Order: sequence, then structure tokens, then C-alpha cells
Amino acid sequence: MKDETAGRPTLSPGRARQTEIYVTGVGGTRPRVPVMPAELEAKASRRMSREAAAYIVGGAGTGQTMRANRAAFDRIELAPRVLEHVASRDLSVELFGRRHRAPLLLAPIGVLDMAHRQADLAVARAAAAENVGMIFSNQASVPMEECAAVMGDVPRWFQLYWSSDDDFVRSLVGRAEACGCEAIVLTLDTTLLGWRPRDLGLGYLPFLRGLGLAQYLTDPVFRERIPASPPETGFRPRGVGIMGTVLSLRRAGKRFDLPLQRMRAAVAHFTATYSRPDLNWNDIARLRDMTRLPIVLKGVRRPDDAAKALDHGVDALVVSNHGGRQVDGEAGTMDVLPDIVRAAGDMPVLLDSGVRSGADIAKALALGARAVLLGRPFVYGLALAGETGVREVIRNIVAEFDLTLALCGLTRAQDLSMDALRA
Ligand code: FNR
Ligand code: LAC
Repeated sequence: MKDETAGRPTLSPGRARQTEIYVTGVGGTRPRVPVMPAELEAKASRRMSREAAAYIVGGAGTGQTMRANRAAFDRIELAPRVLEHVASRDLSVELFGRRHRAPLLLAPIGVLDMAHRQADLAVARAAAAENVGMIFSNQASVPMEECAAVMGDVPRWFQLYWSSDDDFVRSLVGRAEACGCEAIVLTLDTTLLGWRPRDLGLGYLPFLRGLGLAQYLTDPVFRERIPASPPETGFRPRGVGIMGTVLSLRRAGKRFDLPLQRMRAAVAHFTATYSRPDLNWNDIARLRDMTRLPIVLKGVRRPDDAAKALDHGVDALVVSNHGGRQVDGEAGTMDVLPDIVRAAGDMPVLLDSGVRSGADIAKALALGARAVLLGRPFVYGLALAGETGVREVIRNIVAEFDLTLALCGLTRAQDLSMDALRA
């Protein structure tokens, strides 16, 4: 996407995006990706393979937590104030001494090659072009170094799944530091994979096909520890679909310079080591010893856990239920946010799970979040139009946030507070 802003009058992000859409629309041209959140999801679901749609759109159990996330946003009501002179706005917020252009970062999302061939690389380019931070997933399809290389000075963080192999964890953290990551986001809600009926119904887990393993397959410690042959699981694949899996493994192996047998062993080694259900509060001090970067805990949903995090010297929290992919039947993140903010003291609190619009960002900030993570919507943009699609989704959301802020009578994102909500 070329830089459409060159030579144009400077408008706020909201006015600029509206003007772009309405003026190009005079000629009959429509935005590349649907602006309406529900339509964006529906269109992307149709575009993706059955397996990709199940994995990306689907969640845990009956989907109750996913619905709770949206219901919690829907219950909150803004209370716009008028006649406040809102002609110019500052959307920026500060995190760890760094100014972010707008109060959002792209959430860590694994296995993006299920949505688009260019996967994380397209997302990194879009994040850089829109000057919005990106959190590299531990389960990415493109190694963090390749993404970092296209991001210039735009903020990037690294999301860690703590493997049962500490040397590998140390190696990942070192790589994150080396490629300019400004925080380590330790995800706590996925020490085991949740029960996901849509994926189970298709018998499909992308990692077993060699997808979403780029951080592993490029890591010197991980590679060194790939066993000579795959260990026994006690189960055998059944059916002609095995051919597709072999092709997929071959493709991944080619990309990362591993022959088929070693790829099979690498996948088995991943399966045996990715998860650490014995992870506990003592490990936080060990992570602190591994890095000088701020430590962010992702997946906190209880005020008492926020208080513990404060005691353990953690730097920030992300209130998240993983987009309802892990535990079915829990509360929406917006319902638990205020109590967690109260318990978190001076720690910045971020939020994700269900953020679909700029108005959602305003609500989250009003309830005390410092910023939000945008999840599935950017993946839908990616599935529909690659880098351009991700850029459009970011622009639409930032635009709506800008307009909502102004229309609520505020000029600075950081001024959003409970005062912006109906009492
Ligand atoms: C995720 N999420 C996630 N989180 C994480 O810490 N590491 C990861 O690798 C992934 N992978 C991942 C894959 C897919 C397909 C999805 C949809 C989500 C969770 C993600 O960071 C975020 O918490 C949720 O996406 C937020 O929910 P919504 O807003 O997308 O519904
Ligand atoms: C998931 C893991 C990759 O949600 O975080 O599928």
C-alpha cells in the first residue's frame, strides 16, 4: 500500500480515514476489508480453509467465554460530554518509558500462515507502516528476527510460552532482546491447550503439521535437542490425510532446512516440551534473572493474582482470557478489569479478548486499562488482503477511537476515566 498521506492536509486519524473512504467511495470504490466487525469475521471465515476458520475463529467449549467477552463490552455505556473544544487530539500513551502512537498493540497470535502465506511478516510490515506495536508470538510462522528487520523503530514485544526446557527459554529471551523487543510477555493461561471442539471435531492441530514452529525451528538450542527419531506416542495417524501432513511437514522442513525425518522428530520434541503446567510464582524470579526487559504477565483474571504479581515485582499485566480459547464459562475480561486495576497498584494493566472497535478501546481505557491488544480482527484483515488488510483494520479501529474520544468531549487518550462512563 503506498503512502496515501503524502501531500495531503494533516487530518486526525479519524477524519483522515473517513475522508479517504468517502472520497474514494464517490468513484464507487469500497474499502478492501469490511468495516463492520461482524462482517469482517464472516467474510474472513469464508475465505479461510475449514481448519483455519476453526482454529482462528473457534474457542473453548460451548463458546460461552467468547460471548461473555462481547457481552461485557456491550453492557458498558459511554456518557459523552459536549462543548469541550476537541479540535485536536493526542491518542498516545506511554508504556515502559516509550510513547505508543495509540493505545493498542497487536496481540501475539500464532500460526498466522493459516490465514495468509506472508503471515507474521505481512503483519510486521503493517504494524510498522501504521506505527502500532506488535507482540511476536512464541508460535509464530516467521522467526522474530525476520519480523524485527522490517519494523524500523516501531515497538515490538516478545510473547513467551515457558517450555519445559529452560535453556531453550533462555535462548528465546536472548533472541528477543537482540532483535529489539521492549518487553517479555509471559502467557499464563495456556500452560495446557484448552478443550476446543471445533479443532477436535476436525482432528486438526496445526503444530503437528509443522505450522507455527518458526521460533523453535530457527533456535540453536531447540535444534540441537531434536532427537534422532520421533518418540512413541502410543497412537498412530489413520487415514489418507497422512499424505497432506507429510507434504506440510516437508514444506516446513524445506523452509527451515530440516529433512522430513528430522522435522517429524522436531514436531514430537515440540509436543513433548512446549507446555509447563508446573509453572508457578517462583518462576517469575527466574525469568527476572534471565532478562533486563520488563516482564508482562498475560492471562491474569483475578485481583488476588494481580496483587501477587505486584508482590513479585512484575512490570505490567494483560487482563486476558485468550479470546475465550482456554476456559469455557468464565467472565468477560471487561467485567473483571476494574477490580484488577485496583489491585495492580502502579502496574500498568492492559486488556484483550473481545476488542472489536475503537469504542471498545475507549471503554477499556475508561475502566483503567492503559492500552488494549487487538487480536482476531487483524488476523481477519490478513486473511482477506494480507498486509493491506491488516493496515485497514488498524486504521479503522484507530480512526473510530479518535472520533469516539472527540465525540465524548476529550482530547487525550490518557484522560479517559470512569468520568467518561454513565454512572
Ligand atoms: C491467540 N492468542 C495467543 N496468545 C498468546 O499469548 N500466544 C499465542 O501464540 C496466541 N495464539 C493465538 C492464536 C489465535 C488463532 C488466536 C485467535 C489467539 C491469544 C491472543 O493473544 C489474544 O489474547 C486473543 O486473541 C484475544 O481475543 P480476541 O480479541 O481475539 O477475541
Ligand atoms: C492458541 C495458542 C497458540 O491459542 O496460543 O492456539
